[in-house]
Amino acid sequence: MQTLLQSLEGAFSQAIRTAFPELSEAEGKADLAQCQQEGFGHYQCNSAMRLSKIVKKNPRDVAQAIVHALTVHFAEKIEIAGPGFLNVTLSPDFLSQEVQKLLSDPLLGAAPPPKKEKVIVEFSSPNIAKELHVGHIRSTIIGDCLARLFEFLCYDVLRLNHIGDWGTQFGMLITYMKEHAPDVLSGKEPTSLDRLMGWYRAAKKVFDEDPEFKKRSQLEVVRLQSGASDAMHAWKIICDISRKGFQEIYDLLNVRIEERGESFYNPFLKETVEELERLGLVVLSDGAKCIFLDGFTGQGGQPLPMIVQKSDGGYNYATTDMAALHYRIAVDKADRIIYITDIGQQLHFHMVFKAAEKAGWYDPSRVRIDHVGLGLVLGADGKKLKTRSGETEKLIDLLTEAVDRARTILEERGSDPSNLEQLARVIGIGAIKYADLSTHRSKDYTFSYDRMLRFEGNTAVFLLYAYVRINGIKRKTSADMERLLQEATISLQHPSEIALGLHLRRFGETLELMAKELLPNRLTDYLYELAEKFNAFFRDCRVEGSLEEASRLLLCEAAARILKQGLEILGLQTVDRM
Ligand code: ARG
Repeated sequence: MQTLLQSLEGAFSQAIRTAFPELSEAEGKADLAQCQQEGFGHYQCNSAMRLSKIVKKNPRDVAQAIVHALTVHFAEKIEIAGPGFLNVTLSPDFLSQEVQKLLSDPLLGAAPPPKKEKVIVEFSSPNIAKELHVGHIRSTIIGDCLARLFEFLCYDVLRLNHIGDWGTQFGMLITYMKEHAPDVLSGKEPTSLDRLMGWYRAAKKVFDEDPEFKKRSQLEVVRLQSGASDAMHAWKIICDISRKGFQEIYDLLNVRIEERGESFYNPFLKETVEELERLGLVVLSDGAKCIFLDGFTGQGGQPLPMIVQKSDGGYNYATTDMAALHYRIAVDKADRIIYITDIGQQLHFHMVFKAAEKAGWYDPSRVRIDHVGLGLVLGADGKKLKTRSGETEKLIDLLTEAVDRARTILEERGSDPSNLEQLARVIGIGAIKYADLSTHRSKDYTFSYDRMLRFEGNTAVFLLYAYVRINGIKRKTSADMERLLQEATISLQHPSEIALGLHLRRFGETLELMAKELLPNRLTDYLYELAEKFNAFFRDCRVEGSLEEASRLLLCEAAARILKQGLEILGLQTVDRM
């Protein structure tokens, strides 16, 4: 179903066209927004000022004419304010019907896209054998949430893990492991990600210190690139070890993702550069093939090159991203592509997008491409968060520690022991995710178990608890919810009831905004407000045994469904009791 904003837009646009038939379709489209201040009303139409210039009339008269021409009766009050704003207060009857409709809508008041669009969400993307850092976890949590959002909104979503599984580092790692861990490379001896990263560090050290080793490593890269079977086999084994380590984290976070690493694009790198040359975009600079783009300059103002082939003939990160972008548009037929990485890669992505546009690979008015840049995760010392040992596989400990701490808190609170494990996991993982999602994504955020596991304030536990409470209310009455859903009607009367109903009906608008701005904190803010509005309603309005019991139980049902769905989009699980 349409969002309230969309239906009001429709009603006002129609009124504008009736009042001023001389306007074109585009001119007559109404501009609506939620009222920022509750005292003014629920929505406002801001078109009168703009239209007054076209129809050459006083804006207040224009506003008056629009109100006259309205044929839909949704308002209790429409006021003309200031120069010609139209402030609309919806009538309780209209709102009651709107909230009732939510109960039979699987999308809970969100509007599906006019046509099924393909959205690629690329997230997580750690590097094989290299450091996996908290930033990758942040990308995983936020990427999963955005993918869930688009899935809920009925888009065709492709979740991609662009792992770093190719590059010169493999030459040095394979060379080192051939000499120090041959049985691992032949597949005879199983090992862990932890040990792999140890070899990586050791290999790097020798590589930097021993020129002979460096030479051997470079030869190994060439062998790998030409597909020598033993090198390929070693490479696959190394990737598998890393993959298992990554999967452990994805399982704990309950995240699905499809792997399509950098190596996938190897076969297309050569033709990608050739095509860019054919298009005349490539300039030779110091032997390297470069693309220069308007508006991209270095610190001294000199033009900044994007290198697509190094002077030694090798391809790089940018070449792979150009090939990947081309593939996603030409083969995957994406209508929208979203890349989620740390904000430090912003320049790289903006150059890739610009170069692809210049190459004519996509039309920005049809395909939307975004880089979603993430701020850092900081430790208590205000520096980039590192796990205690500084070692990276221990990232998984960061997650399990949240679960352990949640378990302790629950035990102290006397939680039901039979359910403790599941609850600790839901709360611990939920707390980590929520802390991440509720911070504006481009800001740095400080990781603190104490803060994220608080029971009060804008936290996961507060929302999970609100959900449990609503379910408790439903359980306590003897009413049969199935029957109520068939037979009872919602009638909103008390101001707290109206405020809750309106907020519930705005779930769709919130998701719409989130899809536009790609900000998960829009949804966390919305859900936090929902919990607060619910608490106010429950404080002010008796449910059980009241005259309005049936209507109020239906309102509880709508609140429970939206809260659960909202948490699900954030990637949080819910429980029925705590
Ligand atoms: N592997 C990269 C890193 O760890 C992130 C990949 C981002 N995606 C891309 N298409 N370049 O920094």
